[in-house]
Amino acid sequence: MTVPVITVDGPGGSGKGTISRMVAQRLGWHMLDSGALYRLVALGALRHGLDLKDEAELADYARQLDADFRPGTSADAEPATLLEGEDVSLELRTETCGNDASRVAALPAVRAALLDRQRAWRDAPGLVADGRDMGTVVFPDAELKIFLTASVEERARRRYKQLKEKGIDGSLAGLLNEIAERDRRDSQRAVAPLVPADDAVVIDTSDLGIGEVVARVGQLCRERLGQEFVEGVG
Ligand code: C5P
Repeated sequence: MTVPVITVDGPGGSGKGTISRMVAQRLGWHMLDSGALYRLVALGALRHGLDLKDEAELADYARQLDADFRPGTSADAEPATLLEGEDVSLELRTETCGNDASRVAALPAVRAALLDRQRAWRDAPGLVADGRDMGTVVFPDAELKIFLTASVEERARRRYKQLKEKGIDGSLAGLLNEIAERDRRDSQRAVAPLVPADDAVVIDTSDLGIGEVVARVGQLCRERLGQEFVEGVG
């Protein structure tokens, strides 16, 4: 029997990360944050003095990437992400790192180098996979595919709030520009561009609260997978 997968794709700030984590917790499933892998490759490569345009070198580094994820300490808390044994969770979330990640993610050899590692996350009882190409490339046979969107203004506002809560500086106007630029790069790249899978359920979260989106996904899990959310989690 194949292990079931729910893919949650969409642009940055659409709520993918938060929603994926909450859904995974409510189902008692594993969660793959594929964006963190691209961020780790970018961060690690820069620390090792690699050129972010050198595709072959970056792909080699991605294949050998020494990454580890430790569960968060409270319900709905983000896991700690380790690069070569060091907790880099905070550095990983900066806009600079996100932009560098989006550059290395445009390189086909880097994407290919991370493919098996991502698929290895498919483990019983199930996986919620968060990213850009989870439903189109990495898990095309996923049982349920969700694509979250939101207006660029709303996504910039959310990102601004998130960064502020983490004590990271940023201006709303600057974020808006960076998000629009990253959207452009992610949607227009030749390999695995950011597009909904043909069979994805598209949810616009611009005017929805997190609880409403989670409830909608819960309903889809019930209808499509016969899976019920565990009560009282988070
Ligand atoms: O989701 P997150 O913002 O952490 O992703 C950082 C960057 O990594 C994205 O802008 C995108 O370019 C890239 N990415 C990707 N494919 C994925 C996940 C992330 O190309 N599955």
